[in-house]
Amino acid sequence: MTTPTSHPFYLDCDTGIDDALALAYLLASPQADVRGIGTVSGNVSAAVGARNTLDLLQLAGHAHIPVALGAHDPLVGSFHGGAPHVHGTNGIGEVSLEAADAELVPGTAAEMLVRLAHEHPGQLRILAVGPLTNIAEALRLDPELPRLVQDITIMGGAAFAPGNITAVAEANIANDPEAAAEVLAADWDVTLVPLDVTMSNVLEESHRQELLAARHPVPQALGDMLGYYFRFYESQFGRACSAMHDPLAAALAVGGVSAAVAPVVTVDVDTTDGPGRGQTICDLRGLYMDYPEQPGARCRVVLELDGDFAPHLVEVLQSFPESTTAAVAVGAAVA
Ligand code: BDR
Ligand code: CA
Repeated sequence: MTTPTSHPFYLDCDTGIDDALALAYLLASPQADVRGIGTVSGNVSAAVGARNTLDLLQLAGHAHIPVALGAHDPLVGSFHGGAPHVHGTNGIGEVSLEAADAELVPGTAAEMLVRLAHEHPGQLRILAVGPLTNIAEALRLDPELPRLVQDITIMGGAAFAPGNITAVAEANIANDPEAAAEVLAADWDVTLVPLDVTMSNVLEESHRQELLAARHPVPQALGDMLGYYFRFYESQFGRACSAMHDPLAAALAVGGVSAAVAPVVTVDVDTTDGPGRGQTICDLRGLYMDYPEQPGARCRVVLELDGDFAPHLVEVLQSFPESTTAAVAVGAAVA
């Protein structure tokens, strides 16, 4: 039997229900060795996201993983206040987790990312599932960063699909278009996981019930949080289910699932103040010729998945070892 190779990962997130799923997926994946986590304002403030992350890590038995506070405000303008209608006022669907004993580590998320990149030259992999402010700040701190990291996977944007914040803009990009433009212009191996694929891979109520029935507090808590998330997505899909944005990006990053259609194309971000602000303009003119190579293009845009994601996600999350602490660790306060 072969053991999968484990890669050092830096996770940047705005925890967030689907961010919590992505974190749990990484922790449960033998291919990922999470060396640091930075938080950014998006679904909630960077500070609330950091508390949620610390609490989840403790619940998962990974309290040793360092968490750094990242940017509260985007590069331009101010934090808009989050998305309580999607993720709840606490960001995790009003589920209360036991407060972590661990504290944030000193320094910013951007500083942590730069330090980790130097500690693991050529090996560090980045998974960014929130607005890209911290990543842009890290690029400004050390322009050598793209040369030092192995690759970056970003949940964000919309190629052919409509936006989810405006007609054309997806939330992570819309929350800091200037940062996204800098990150997507940098010379590194980038995979973009846009709404095209995250809105078409859905978790159903039967999957949520499987998580609730698991014998570990992490999948149980995630099942609770998803109850809140499902209520928001009922307005989008007409039934109790949800999109799978951030965990799908995590699974693509570690290779748990693979892309069926993922052309490497140029991607520009609209940073104007017009109706296109935050749009990811993907050059998909090769559509009718099976996407021939585009000179100078470096962004792999995932448009279709190979296989069914939801059963894989449930299986990985159920692989947390059995625990007897489940009943005391989680208190659901979902209305
Ligand atoms: C993205 O925005 C956030 O609300 C989610 O956590 C996800 O990263 C989806 O547009
Ligand atoms: Ca997120």
